[in-house]
Parts: sequence; C-alpha cells; structure tokens
Amino acid sequence: MTDRIPLLIDTDPGVDDAWALLMAFACERHRVIGLTLSAGNVGLEHTVRNALKLCEVAGVELPVFPGSATPLVFAAEDAAHVHGRDGFGDTGYLLPSRSAEAEHAALAMIRLSHAHPGLLLVCLGPLTNLALALRLDPTLPSRIARLLVMGGAVTGQGNTSVSAEFNIAFDPEAAHIVFEAFPAFDLVDWEAVLRHGLPHREVEHWLATPSAPAAFYRAISRRSREWSEDRRGEHWHCADGLAMAAALEPDSADWARHAVAIETGGRWTRGATVVDWADRSGGPARARILRGFDPVRLRHRLRQALAGAGAG
Ligand code: RIB
Ligand code: CA
Repeated sequence: MTDRIPLLIDTDPGVDDAWALLMAFACERHRVIGLTLSAGNVGLEHTVRNALKLCEVAGVELPVFPGSATPLVFAAEDAAHVHGRDGFGDTGYLLPSRSAEAEHAALAMIRLSHAHPGLLLVCLGPLTNLALALRLDPTLPSRIARLLVMGGAVTGQGNTSVSAEFNIAFDPEAAHIVFEAFPAFDLVDWEAVLRHGLPHREVEHWLATPSAPAAFYRAISRRSREWSEDRRGEHWHCADGLAMAAALEPDSADWARHAVAIETGGRWTRGATVVDWADRSGGPARARILRGFDPVRLRHRLRQALAGAGAG
C-alpha cells in the first residue's frame, strides 16, 4: 500500500466532530497522527474527555493534546444547547482510561509539522490553537501540505448569528490570523452543510449498525438529533462529517476559489466570512470553497465510519 497521508485533526467534540473523527479513523488512505483539542461546542475539559472516550470506543490509541480553553480576545458562548452540557449528549459515559498529553496543542502542531512531511491538517472547531501556533511559528504553513477548515457562511446565512457560523464566530481574531497566513486552504462552510442534509430516518437506520462505534454514537447523538428534527425538520446536518469527507476525498467535491475576509468588528456582522465572489478586491483567492460533494460518496464515508476502524 502506498504511504498513508498523515492527518492531524483540530476539533471541539461535539457530536458532529465525533462522526468526523470516526470517518478519519476508518480511512485506509490516511493515518491520524493525533488530535488537538479546542474549546467551542463545550468547554475544553469536556472536549478533551470526549476525544479520549471516542478513541477508546473506536479502539484507536492517539495522542490527544489540550489547547486553548478560551478564544484569543473575547469570551464566546458555547453550543451546549445543541450537543449537551458535556458535548456528548449527557449520557454519563464511563470515563476514559487514558489521559491527554501535557504538551499544548499549539506546540504539538508545530512539532508534528516537522515530524510528518505532507501533513493534512483538518480544523473542525474554532481556530484558536492554529492561530496560536502561527504566532509562535509563522513558517508553519510551509510545512502543512493541505489545510481544510470547517467554518464560515459564504453568503452570510449563519447558524450562530444572522451572518456568522459558530466556529468562526467563536474566535474571529483567530480565523483572521489563519485565513491571512495560509496561501491556500479548503473551506467547507455551513451553507454547504445545509445543502447536504441527511434524512433523520436514514441516519437512524445507519446507527442501528451492530458495532461499538454505532451504539456509542446513537447514544451521544440522540439529544442533538432530536433538537435538530425539532428545529430544522426532516434533515440532520453533520457539518464536520461533510468537512471530513471533503478532506479525505477532495476529488469527490466541486470547489471554487475566492478571496475571503473575516469580519472582526461589525455590530451585526462580527464573525462573518466575507467572500469576494466577483473578485473585485484583487486580493489573493486563498480559499477553495466547497460547492458540492457527491452524495453517494458522502453516505459511503459516513456508514464506513460506523463499522469501525479498518472497515476498509
Ligand atoms: O457550525 C458548525 C460547526 O460548529 C461544527 O464544527 C460544530 O461541531 C461546531 O463546532
Ligand atoms: Ca466542531
């Protein structure tokens, strides 16, 4: 088998993050080398514990690096109303046996970028850790083969405010630093997620898969899926699952490259991703924005994840 692509995931699990992580664990073309954790959906203590628990359920041993417990500048609201107070549906799961690493996520990102040429970095939460790493080492982008970010709302249809998506709005200053530092990166935004909704009944059928990951996911996602059906209707939206599918299988996606700026001021628009669709600014078109993903391939990736690591 050709060498597997080293994959580092920055994440704030979070129910949809969990499915994305299972997708990465089950992919034979990529090798997850670690998880860096941020606050976001819920506080850092919970996201770290959730990451350790998910690895245990999936039967994978990975270094888990705690990152920043707060955004760079201003405090932000979590999303416990969607994911549960603990971020995993408040199921009261048995605590994981393993512990997190002592190394900070930002320092781990820098070190791992030296150790793993060709690194794919996927960011599924607020960008605080990556922004800190960039401030510590501005040469970091030269050692990241590909960056994919789940975040933003490319025509201003937000999910945490009128115009802003949660990951970006949680730490807009961090997003600005990241979007300005990388000459090119992939962006999977909330509006693309809305175009790739999954029928709740279909998801429930998948979650009946007789495997430990499926049973665990069924339990931790129950509250989030009920909230979604109540608030958003018949489709469930797995934001990080779509992002991870695009990260693992970019050729199954359609992309469009444009300049994107992050609004860090704005009484009504703080956290917005302002896309130069007409290329008026003359600025560098750094963001390759997901426009569509093959729905058959998305379903394959999501279902493969539930079968467990090494399902092929
Ligand atoms: O807006 C959706 C994003 O915010 C997802 O990554 C979800 O997990 C939350 O982090
Ligand atoms: Ca997330």
